Amino acid sequence: MKICPALAWLAAFPILSPAASASDVPASPPPATAPAAAPAAPGSEKKTELEMRMDRMGKAFRKLKKQVGDPAQNATSLELLSAMEAAAKEAIELTPAKAEDIPEDQRAKFEADFQSGIKNLQDMFAKLRDALTAGRNDDAAKLVDDIGAFEKKEHKEYRRPEKD
Ligand code: HEM
Repeated sequence: MKICPALAWLAAFPILSPAASASDVPASPPPATAPAAAPAAPGSEKKTELEMRMDRMGKAFRKLKKQVGDPAQNATSLELLSAMEAAAKEAIELTPAKAEDIPEDQRAKFEADFQSGIKNLQDMFAKLRDALTAGRNDDAAKLVDDIGAFEKKEHKEYRRPEKD
């Protein structure tokens, strides 16, 4: 049987047929990495080591503020205080994130000042422990107020300002 020359020519070049062209085009390669600039959901950023200790201190302090005046709860108040003392002991070994924003020649002083701030906090905790142990709840309540005011003041100094 005689093959039509035009058909023979087409058969010799399968690349020109529509079926071949679809399968021969390489698929675009997958991106090598996930997009670097994917925005993180608000509040989902990883916490710093110091934030984790501060969080612990914050949770215990919130409960302590509510019950510090009640002598019947002194045993649990002392437990809450123990949790805060343990967190402060770890916090004093850490460096605030804000240190990175401080000029290098002032950074050592910033870190030393932060440590003495935590040391002052520990001294206030010790006084609070004495007051609770002695059942002096009015004194304990006053110390909790003082600690709250100190926390505010020190946060202005050592926490990184919030980003918009
Ligand atoms: C009872 C007293 C205190 C409480 C309850 C407390 C609580 C907290 C809380 C809840 C945070 C936010 C943590 C987060 O974002 O997840 C925080 C952050 C922070 N606090 Fe305190 N705080 C206290 C005292 C202090 C003191 C005295 C200092 C400094 C001498 C300090 C320095 C900081 C710093 C630097 C951060 C930011 C963490 C970082 O830079 O990584 N805090 N604190």
